[in-house]
Amino acid sequence: MPKEMKQYSIGGFEVLEFEQLASTNTTAESMSLDVLKDKMAILTWCQTQGRGQATNRWESEPNKNIAMTLVFRPEQLPAAKQFAISMVIALGCMDFVGRYVKNVTIKWPNDIYVGNDKIAGILIEHRIVGSCIQYSLCGIGLNVNQAEFLSDAPNPVSLIQLIGKELSLPDVLEELLECIGKRYADVKEYAVLEEAFQKNMYRSQGVFNWEDEQGVFQASIVGVDEYGQLILEDVAGKKRVYAFKEVKYLQ
Ligand code: BTN
Repeated sequence: MPKEMKQYSIGGFEVLEFEQLASTNTTAESMSLDVLKDKMAILTWCQTQGRGQATNRWESEPNKNIAMTLVFRPEQLPAAKQFAISMVIALGCMDFVGRYVKNVTIKWPNDIYVGNDKIAGILIEHRIVGSCIQYSLCGIGLNVNQAEFLSDAPNPVSLIQLIGKELSLPDVLEELLECIGKRYADVKEYAVLEEAFQKNMYRSQGVFNWEDEQGVFQASIVGVDEYGQLILEDVAGKKRVYAFKEVKYLQ
């Protein structure tokens, strides 16, 4: 075991805690299959090159936030149902944040929002073998005690900004893992996860402006399909289905 790593269990998760890492997702990706266990957490309190969606960076001030990658190896979960993992993580994070503040939603596919601001980002990579998931690496960045954000991310927010007091990071970790662990117990219950997810989606009620490659249109959210694609119904009554990045939320 490297000197700078601690290993311990919390609430059914085996935590590998590193003093400093470039990116917990990159470290998880470099681990071999026999090291990657179901319900393992690769965590650091100092992530120096956090990765976000697409080519984005993820800002996280040292010793202020949660930056970790959870490993899941669900038995016999069809690749076609991989969005179940995404829903488990998003709902677990939402449950945790919802213990402290109101108005927490999931902005499809898996950003955690409080009002119109982003408090957590999720970056999931699946390894598929045959028709099943062999493992999923689920990166979670949750803003906890960081009071100022320096990057050009449009709308970051943290718990300390919302509740005005610092939280103990080990306590946050324990509670967050508890919330995610509870949702993971339902990973094979797609309909249960889907119902909770749809109920808690950002802008799930009402008509909003959207933009796809054809231009701007108005639509309301119908839900997500079993591949995790977003289903919208435009004001002309036409259903529109989008994969990630094919449609943008507008103000
Ligand atoms: C996003 O762009 O919304 C996704 C952000 C994901 C950030 C987390 S922090 C822990 C894990 N390690 C990374 O490098 N990224 C993810």
